[in-house]
Amino acid sequence: MGQYPDANRRITDAAASTGSRLDSYVDRYATRTHGMTASEVRSLFSVASRPEVVSLAGGMPNISGLPMDVVGSLISNLIGKRGMTALQYGSGQGDPTLREQICEVMKPTGINGHPDDVTVTVGSQQALDLITRIFIDPGDVILAEAPSYVGALSTFRSYQADVVHMEMDDDGLIPERVLDAIATTKAAGRRIKFLYTIPNYHNPAGVTLTAERRARILRICQDHDILIVEDDPYGLLGFDGHVPRAMRADDAERVVYLGSFSKTFAPGFRVGWALAPHAVREKLVLAAESSVLCPPAFSQLAVSEYLAAHDWRGQVKSFQELYLERRDAMLDALSGLMPEGARWTRPNGGFYVWLTLPPGLDTKAMLPRAVTSRVAYVPGTAFYADGFGSRSMRLSYCYPTPERIREGVRRLAQVIEQEMELRAAFGAEGTSRRPGLDAPGPDQS
Ligand SMILES: Cc1ncc(COP(=O)(O)O)c(C=O)c1O
Repeated sequence: MGQYPDANRRITDAAASTGSRLDSYVDRYATRTHGMTASEVRSLFSVASRPEVVSLAGGMPNISGLPMDVVGSLISNLIGKRGMTALQYGSGQGDPTLREQICEVMKPTGINGHPDDVTVTVGSQQALDLITRIFIDPGDVILAEAPSYVGALSTFRSYQADVVHMEMDDDGLIPERVLDAIATTKAAGRRIKFLYTIPNYHNPAGVTLTAERRARILRICQDHDILIVEDDPYGLLGFDGHVPRAMRADDAERVVYLGSFSKTFAPGFRVGWALAPHAVREKLVLAAESSVLCPPAFSQLAVSEYLAAHDWRGQVKSFQELYLERRDAMLDALSGLMPEGARWTRPNGGFYVWLTLPPGLDTKAMLPRAVTSRVAYVPGTAFYADGFGSRSMRLSYCYPTPERIREGVRRLAQVIEQEMELRAAFGAEGTSRRPGLDAPGPDQS
């Protein structure tokens, strides 16, 4: 019985009284919670966070480059001078000064937004949640890239949306596949509520939608009366300093644009925003008020002070340099070490490379062996609502040092090699794949 006999008995009794189920509320949860399951690979990630493991899995922004002394004194001044406001409730739509500054931050994307149309949110993740909440009834269809951002997919699932994926290639979402998805969804008598896209430095695919395709996809959505949700947390983090033009810049009524300070400043403040057509904005604010009353005043004012008093553009530039060095380390290592038949994307900004292995390999099955070999990644299936992506994985280069990235890719290459040897020795079924980014490609070494 060990050291705590009473506690052990209580646990056993509780299990017995619920017919061995540990959750006695299991039959009371709303249907919408059924899709809310912990990732199968979550337990592995607790091992992956050990220092000896090179984690190419997490997408944590590398805030080691932030001037902590500057941020510290901004915060101390904020409390000293505006503490009564910073520690109080605020407006549901967000601080008016910050909303004006957000319009300035969006200018490089070509967006000429009005502060009245901005809703400040608790990260852009909350904006995704609010948009899904105000538009989706169970069974409604959302069109999304294949693969897509895992946080968006889990939000869509929690509102019981059906995600219809559309293929991408190295130039981003393929317009013909958008047309196909619209046609098949409409033919099945289903309602498309919006198209969700991450046009810049895609998470997880690393690709960027070309200007020509942006125009075509916008046109398709106009022709078919489909709302676009343009999720753009990485747009300012291009390695050549160029900021791609947002679709929202060319159609203010058709597009809800989401932005975030998580990657250009710091995720700990949890400040993002949605720029939406006026009527949608009204609903967003009502939905936000019913969930959090207002975004945190302290965080908003801290971001606002930072934008006003610090060279935030210079900071974004230094983030670009930091990520570029890491991107180069990863691409060099992949070119030198990956086996024939593997292919990967070459991001021009952001945090991620999408790696697809030769046919027959399964990245989820391989993950425990990779973690044992002290390297971690996210298996491709996490980024699909429909079980595809088993040959692919997301590799993040944002956080580890360039040396650790090279070492991580070296370990990964060894694991892949062993896996291929096993496959050659014992044979294996080919795993499911879809065309587009997950298709076998030429050796890029
Ligand atoms: C594509 C995308 N959208 C939204 C988010 C959410 O970011 P946040 O809530 O920190 O603004 C992330 C975070 O990684 C992301 O990659």
